[in-house]
Amino acid sequence: MKKWNVAAVRGAKGRTKLGCVTAYDACFARLADESGVPVILVGDSIGMTALGHATTLPVTMEDILRATAAVARAVKNALVVADMPFGSYQCGDDKAMENAVAALKAGADAVKLEGGERVCGLIRRMTEAGIPVLAHVGMTPQSVNEYGGFKKQGKTAEAAEAIFADARAVEAAGAFAVTLECIPAGLAARITASLGIVTVGIGAGNGCDAQWLVMHDLLGLNDAVPSFVKKYAFLADEVRKAFSAYVSEVAAGAFPPSGGDSGPEAR
Ligand code: KIV
Repeated sequence: MKKWNVAAVRGAKGRTKLGCVTAYDACFARLADESGVPVILVGDSIGMTALGHATTLPVTMEDILRATAAVARAVKNALVVADMPFGSYQCGDDKAMENAVAALKAGADAVKLEGGERVCGLIRRMTEAGIPVLAHVGMTPQSVNEYGGFKKQGKTAEAAEAIFADARAVEAAGAFAVTLECIPAGLAARITASLGIVTVGIGAGNGCDAQWLVMHDLLGLNDAVPSFVKKYAFLADEVRKAFSAYVSEVAAGAFPPSGGDSGPEAR
């Protein structure tokens, strides 16, 4: 399997569609990597999938750094992208640079941040400093309070044009790829056709160069998922079955098996 880097992702445009996922720990990152996933995002969705928050807003840089280090230790071939959480790049560009540097020192190959034209100065500064940036436009979950919920964006002609302008601007600022989240499929396809960089869609139809799915959604670890998600497995049911079989067997004295003393063994 080949090692994915930023140049390889750029080179995939128009050649190979990339199925990319999130991961937040070494176990699932290793499994995704061994399965040929090209890009693994340590997303701020960790707040909702693993930390029990209702939005991504409470996620801290420390949460992302610890998860990024775990993912990077487990991955051999995938490109590892660390999400910049809310607050890590809104309080001045110097602070944002420090946080992005910390993400790369933790093992990330690139960072992702939300916003279009308003973050282009920062994207330019990061890319000039050798920090590859994957941009994120359309529905940007860190703006949930502005939207009043996780709502599809770009539905009017004016809003669609603003998202188009954001996508062009982040490309011009040096981003090597751009996430298009929850926008109309036609708009995502038009942006994809007009940009030279890879578009990674999520809830944006099949006209993008690549797709994200949140790992917990794809694996069916979450019972409720957004309507655009396809569950490729139903692990929540399997996990519940396994836990309750274990609890029942311990209660019944069936586990551990009786008789014989195999002695203490290392794992
Ligand atoms: O944090 C996240 O999971 C994301 C998605 C776009 C994949 O940003």
